[in-house]
Amino acid sequence: MRVLVTGSTQGIGLAMASAFVKEGHEVIVHCSSDMEKAQRVAREIGAYAAVTADFSKIDEVKGLYEKTGAVDCLILNASVQYKEKWDEITEETFDRQINVNLKSTLFLMQAYAPAMRERGFGRIVTVGSVNQYRRHPELPMYSATKCAVFSLVQNAAKQLAPYGVTVNNIAPGAIATPRNADVYNDDEKRKGVERVIPMGRFGRPEDCVGTVLMLCSEAGAYITGTDIVMDGGMRL
Ligand SMILES: NC(=O)c1ccc[n+]([C@@H]2O[C@H](COP(=O)([O-])OP(=O)(O)OC[C@H]3O[C@@H](n4cnc5c(N)ncnc54)[C@H](OP(=O)(O)O)[C@@H]3O)[C@@H](O)[C@H]2O)c1
Repeated sequence: MRVLVTGSTQGIGLAMASAFVKEGHEVIVHCSSDMEKAQRVAREIGAYAAVTADFSKIDEVKGLYEKTGAVDCLILNASVQYKEKWDEITEETFDRQINVNLKSTLFLMQAYAPAMRERGFGRIVTVGSVNQYRRHPELPMYSATKCAVFSLVQNAAKQLAPYGVTVNNIAPGAIATPRNADVYNDDEKRKGVERVIPMGRFGRPEDCVGTVLMLCSEAGAYITGTDIVMDGGMRL
């Protein structure tokens, strides 16, 4: 199968892209603008191609399909996150999180779903967050975008179900990636996060991989419009 994993030059997206390659799929690596980085990562993991598109710019979102062509599996993993209390959010960070996390999700689904529908097969997986369920005082907008994405996922899932196209969301908890390296690498901060995770540890990017592979495989054929959480119990 041909698989596009957005935001796959590092962290969770990279783990997913590598796993799809290992399973024998043609994977397209993506990041916002650094083509050299995307190509280097693609080479290192044996991916099929590399592309860039900055999801804060709607023209680049809408232009991505032209660069990749149709895919069987669309893994919408790229996002941005700004840590701000609700009364400190600026219009700039509001717009950026809405555009990169939510607006791009809708328009990428619009771009990629028609070919899936025509062929009678497709898998779309969005990457949400435990913050859909757990209110973090510094992540109100980020959480709002992830909740809104899941609402879109459920709606699209219902419309696309008759055509063999499934649409699901996964919701990781605290995962050790470059995004939160400052917390993970600081003993005190890391322990503070680990105290609210019943399993007592950060997740690894690899902890998010099996579910996505399953959703895109025959085992996931009858699963649509759902959310699967991998958070070591953090939302409980
Ligand atoms: N890490 C966690 O603890 C955690 C927890 C819950 C959910 N998640 C979700 O899991 C996903 C991956 O997280 P991560 O921690 O692996 O992220 P990460 O380390 O921050 O990597 C983000 C990826 O998204 C790309 N990206 C960022 N801004 C973009 C833009 N404007 N346009 C296009 N691509 C852009 C980045 O490419 P560039 O380098 O080019 O910017 C990078 O490849 C995200 O959706 C995140 O919200 C993560």
